[in-house]
Amino acid sequence: MPKATNYQPKSRRKAAESVRTLIPRAQIQKRIVEMAQEIRRDFPTEHLHLVGVLKGSVFFLADLARQITGQLSLDFIAVSSYGSKTHSSGEVKLTRDLDSSIEGKTVIVVEDILDTGMTLQYLLRVFEQRKPRRLRVAVLLDKPERRLAKVRADYVGFTIPNEFVVGYGLDYSERYRNLADVGVLTLGTKIKKS
Ligand code: IMP
Ligand code: MG
Repeated sequence: MPKATNYQPKSRRKAAESVRTLIPRAQIQKRIVEMAQEIRRDFPTEHLHLVGVLKGSVFFLADLARQITGQLSLDFIAVSSYGSKTHSSGEVKLTRDLDSSIEGKTVIVVEDILDTGMTLQYLLRVFEQRKPRRLRVAVLLDKPERRLAKVRADYVGFTIPNEFVVGYGLDYSERYRNLADVGVLTLGTKIKKS
């Protein structure tokens, strides 16, 4: 006879995740226009080389690039630091390098969010060795409370509280990137009634 159990089997549990809007899409777009102007004001005549950090920055980079006037080129780099959890392991690994050299270029690193800063610290070290003419950082979101590494962004879209956010490129286990707004993710485990 099977043993009696006092727990719900995994299949009966349903994760009750929910997302509460933090920054609506219109506000994001408005801020991006301003950021593009700030960047161009700082470098009025220069060819700007935007380096997007995959994958979280793709929507931000696409919208930002289209708001920057004048000459511009794009490249991408990918790092992994988070796995599928909501907390950083602190370990950063380069998983896809740039296509072209950044030597002598005015580089703007485009990141979705500055959290502990470990990713950016790693990237800035890598890029500085490659002798760009100038190296700047643009992030959509900044969570200063979580900072461990001594890094800062030159252009910040929004400073946000210490909460896990998704949407507009930001993911939780690769999900929610396609939301047009940025929202706070709440995780919860609800026991499904049979
Ligand atoms: P950092 O190295 O701790 O600064 O983290 C940078 C990376 O962690 C970001 O590029 C994101 O991919 C991820 N990350 C940090 N905070 C969040 C969040 O609130 N939501 C989703 N991803 C996050
Ligand atoms: Mg990222």
